[in-house]
Amino acid sequence: MPAQPSPYSIRVLTEDDSAAMMDLDDNAFGNTLEADVVQSELALHEPGRGIGVFDGALLVGLATAFSFQIGVPGAVVPAAGVSWVGVLPTHRRRGILRQLMTHQLHEIHDRGREAIAVLYASEPVIYGRFGYGLATSSWSMTVPRGPHALRPDAPRDSSVRLRLVPAEDWKLVAEVYDTVARNRAGVVTRDERWHQRAASDWTSMRNGRSALRCVVAEDDNSVRGYARYSTKQNWNNGVAAGVVDVREIVALDARARAELYRYLFDLDLMSSVTVWNVPVDDPVLHWVTNPRSAAPLRHDSMYVRILDVSRALSDRRYAVPVDVVLGVTDTLCPWNDGAWRLVGGPDGATCTRTDDEVDLALSVRELGAAHLGGTSLAELAETGWVSVGPGARSDVLERVSAAFLTNPRPWSAFIF
Ligand SMILES: CC(C)(COP(=O)(O)OP(=O)(O)OC[C@H]1O[C@@H](n2cnc3c(N)ncnc32)[C@H](O)[C@@H]1OP(=O)(O)O)[C@@H](O)C(=O)NCCC(=O)NCCS
Repeated sequence: MPAQPSPYSIRVLTEDDSAAMMDLDDNAFGNTLEADVVQSELALHEPGRGIGVFDGALLVGLATAFSFQIGVPGAVVPAAGVSWVGVLPTHRRRGILRQLMTHQLHEIHDRGREAIAVLYASEPVIYGRFGYGLATSSWSMTVPRGPHALRPDAPRDSSVRLRLVPAEDWKLVAEVYDTVARNRAGVVTRDERWHQRAASDWTSMRNGRSALRCVVAEDDNSVRGYARYSTKQNWNNGVAAGVVDVREIVALDARARAELYRYLFDLDLMSSVTVWNVPVDDPVLHWVTNPRSAAPLRHDSMYVRILDVSRALSDRRYAVPVDVVLGVTDTLCPWNDGAWRLVGGPDGATCTRTDDEVDLALSVRELGAAHLGGTSLAELAETGWVSVGPGARSDVLERVSAAFLTNPRPWSAFIF
């Protein structure tokens, strides 16, 4: 049976829709954002990239995209940062999200700026059906505070000085972030507006915590790392039991990173330190004296949707030489569907249509999951979602999997 046409219209949102967008967002997310947050967040919207679904004149569904740049293995490329996805509670489960996602994927492809889209999901179950694969993960952990939180053999660097700087002075640390973004897959680059947002300290979002602080780790030559954090005072029967909440820790080298952690893990009057977005390969997981008591929990982070297989796969580099025919299925973006020959390595790659026999068959979701180099195709094959073609070499999975993986492992620095 042919799909029923949607009873709802869809169009690009304009500044005149701002109030309706905020109202929808508050209702969908069960929130009431204060004016200072609303103003800053709305200012990040880019003209022409927000789309709304309407029931008559009423805005009932919303999605937007930011024109980001993101690290992929060996390169920094454009990516559509999908955000502000929501459907009014009175209109949910009628296919409005599907209408939004289908429209947006086609629009991004037609626009031609980006070969991939990326997003954070409020719930992991939502976006796989639209071809988004889980591409980065991170740890959260809560470390009991103390002078011995780090092992004695964790690196020390006597040339590193720690200095508290005004948290809003994002320019002091921007170069550290930008350098990491240029060199690590998964990190979205920040222009001035996004650097400002990273340093934002809205009073209404403090939730009883202190103002945002920023500590830098520097030597005589330059700033090598920084951490943004806040603290919450707490007393248990007169005993200090404050909590440190680390928003962001970014460093150019392991020794500066260790000095930042050593500082954060031993602040007076605190009893525990929560770090919510630890890269999966962060050495701190080895440095903490008692990793079990830090109770690390692995989270899904960024999801990747490939919109143009040929361009996306040619844009990145591969850890070892690879020559493989990928059989891709993509029901929402049929231009991706079919067989693609990927020939690549550490210096470059091409990906072109072919009639040759398929070596590895997978959906665009699995390709997105593997794209940033953090999810193993061999591991995905164990799930049953990647399969080896009958005529393929016996070691094809191992070889292609090794080519796609990257070091350091991809990391996504912030939620947008
Ligand atoms: C999540 C949300 C956008 C879904 O919108 P919706 O219009 O109800 O979604 P649709 O009716 O188009 O559903 C599409 C499919 O996703 C499924 N789905 C959507 N949201 C789901 C959820 N939260 N949990 C489980 N399944 C979900 C539907 O069952 C449907 O499945 P199908 O394709 O097998 O039929 C909406 O419920 C919402 O705004 N939630 C609160 C805000 C939020 O979480 N936004 C996402 C931010 S990343």
